[in-house]
Amino acid sequence: MSMVQNQLKGIQVGTIANITQAGNSYKAITADGINVSGLIGTRRRKSSFESGCDLKLYEADNGNRYWKDIPTSTVDIPVVDEVIDIPDSHREMMDFIHTSYDLKPESLVMNELKWKYLIRSAVRGKNIMMTGQAGCGKTMAAKALVGALDRPDFYFNMGATQDPRATLIGNVHFDNERGTYMAESLFVKAIQTPNAVILLDELTRAHPDAWNILMPVLDAGQRYLRLDEKKNQATVKVAEGVTFIATANIGNEYTATRMLDKALLDRFSVIEMDILNHEQETGLLNYMFPNVDNKILSDIANIAHLTRVESNNDNARIDSGVSTRTSVELAGLIYDGFKLADAAEITIYPQYDMAGGVDSERTFVKQIVQKFINDGSDDELFTEDEMNNEN
Ligand SMILES: Nc1ncnc2c1ncn2[C@@H]1O[C@H](COP(=O)(O)OP(=O)(O)OP(=O)(O)O)[C@@H](O)[C@H]1O
Ligand SMILES: [Mg+2]
Repeated sequence: MSMVQNQLKGIQVGTIANITQAGNSYKAITADGINVSGLIGTRRRKSSFESGCDLKLYEADNGNRYWKDIPTSTVDIPVVDEVIDIPDSHREMMDFIHTSYDLKPESLVMNELKWKYLIRSAVRGKNIMMTGQAGCGKTMAAKALVGALDRPDFYFNMGATQDPRATLIGNVHFDNERGTYMAESLFVKAIQTPNAVILLDELTRAHPDAWNILMPVLDAGQRYLRLDEKKNQATVKVAEGVTFIATANIGNEYTATRMLDKALLDRFSVIEMDILNHEQETGLLNYMFPNVDNKILSDIANIAHLTRVESNNDNARIDSGVSTRTSVELAGLIYDGFKLADAAEITIYPQYDMAGGVDSERTFVKQIVQKFINDGSDDELFTEDEMNNEN
């Protein structure tokens, strides 16, 4: 039997493939979202497309399977490529995107252009990948998007999954009456929910098996989940309008984290979260802790800022700056009555290596923090100028 005949055996007789033009090639996609272009000759696909037909799979008496033109069916064909047509409601969609900054929670610092791009990617059904350093608001932005869109949502922490198959597909169980059966995962339910927004948090930390399972799910030309690698037919189609939003730590300091497979990354529109500058950081802390002395909040923002600047230097003495997550934690401790010195001791220093003693990362960061420490007992001991001179 020829290889193609062999592969056709894996497809149910009666399956209908819809032909679409993609550049100068012709794609054949089944209603289940399976790309069967490789099983139909190029000329065949072209002529069906030109005569406005679908192709249906039949079986001859000798057992050979073949495709035959049928008038384009009304079966639900998945969206294969980016929607190029401008829908009637295009104006509405544009209005939504361009007024969406109002939907951004005030507590999230993110510039207007990036927020609009995030919204636009979601309403256009793109897969979105939030990147940036640790604690810079990736998860927060993803959740804010979910909140801004009035759509069903599902959350999966991919970094925490030990068993990708169980999380993404389901568990096989055995029962005396039913025999072996599969309990489908929440993810299977999620992808079958039309217009769902599915958050895949910490995708870079996921097991590579998870990436492999997700590959066809995220591919615009496939959009199906394979329940079983062995059988061609056991697939679940991703419902209309489902949007995936993932987060990753692939900032330069994250070389230690497994790099996300290039093929998987290619399936996303990447949105990089910016690191906040001093003014933005102070603004955020003031917004979050209106009752804490402005000067201390500005000092915290300064500490974060100085460490970030240093970590970007060519000869940086530290690998990474203090994150926004950490500065928010610091401010929270101050609010609860801790002194800056103690708060720094608990939240900042453990993140920096002690190796090397006086030349260690930790010593360096301590020196930066020291500039801002005033425990109250030595008020006015140094003027700001004196402090600057000392350093
Ligand atoms: N851009 C930001 N705007 C507002 N708050 C922020 C921002 N970035 C960080 N924060 C604060 O830091 C906390 C952690 O942010 P978040 O969990 O979104 O970081 P992340 O980028 O997902 O980090 P990780 O890489 O560790 O997953 C938030 O709860 C918030 O208090
Ligand atoms: Mg996160």
